[in-house]
Amino acid sequence: MKQTEGQIITVGVTGASGAIYAQTLLRLLEADPRVTRVYLVVTDAGLRLVSTELGIVAADARKLPSLLTGSSAQKIECLPNKDVGASIASGSVPVDAMVILPCSAGALGSIAAGTAADLLSRAADVSLKERRPLVLCLRETPLNRIHLENMLRVHDAGARLMPAMPAFYYEPKTITEMVEQFVCRVLAQIGLPQEKQYRWEGRV
Ligand SMILES: Cc1cc2nc3c(=O)[nH]c(=O)nc-3n(C[C@H](O)[C@H](O)[C@H](O)COP(=O)(O)O)c2cc1C
Repeated sequence: MKQTEGQIITVGVTGASGAIYAQTLLRLLEADPRVTRVYLVVTDAGLRLVSTELGIVAADARKLPSLLTGSSAQKIECLPNKDVGASIASGSVPVDAMVILPCSAGALGSIAAGTAADLLSRAADVSLKERRPLVLCLRETPLNRIHLENMLRVHDAGARLMPAMPAFYYEPKTITEMVEQFVCRVLAQIGLPQEKQYRWEGRV
């Protein structure tokens, strides 16, 4: 049974394009009073994308949450991906939901195969076996048969697939707005609907 009040969320960041999505997700989680703790796991390729796309390099991984959010990031703890013995590797540790954003085709494959060879794929495996929400925001195009089969496999095991696909019907003016709206949709999937999420009103 959960001992703490508030939601505990695991965020995985892999080496797919879209580090800005992860940055936005972490900022919103840090600011959300319904969330008490965020476990962050970034793969080596994820660190490379954070550096390439955001220009952020953390010599000390513990500094990554504050560098990414631009705040003290009190709630966010960065766990080494190599540490398969970290807390979230066990189903006994209470975690309400896990989001992998962006999710590489490689990480999708590891989760679909159940390899659990690093903390990210082990934590995702735990989410599935414990029947907890697991949202995978795949970012790859075009998709080959292996990707499609892996998507179906994780879907059938209980994951929610939300490919990183921004929408245009709310007429976004900036990349920031597009990213934020996509992240709001992801958060709604794990029971954290955001005030700023655009809702279609049926206008012609
Ligand atoms: C600049 C750059 C962009 C990449 N973009 C993607 C991508 O959008 N989707 C993807 O599946 N892989 C992408 N890759 C490849 C992954 O980073 C690579 O397959 C890596 O092994 C994934 O490892 P991970 O799942 O442990 O993060 C990209 C790599 C680089 C260097």
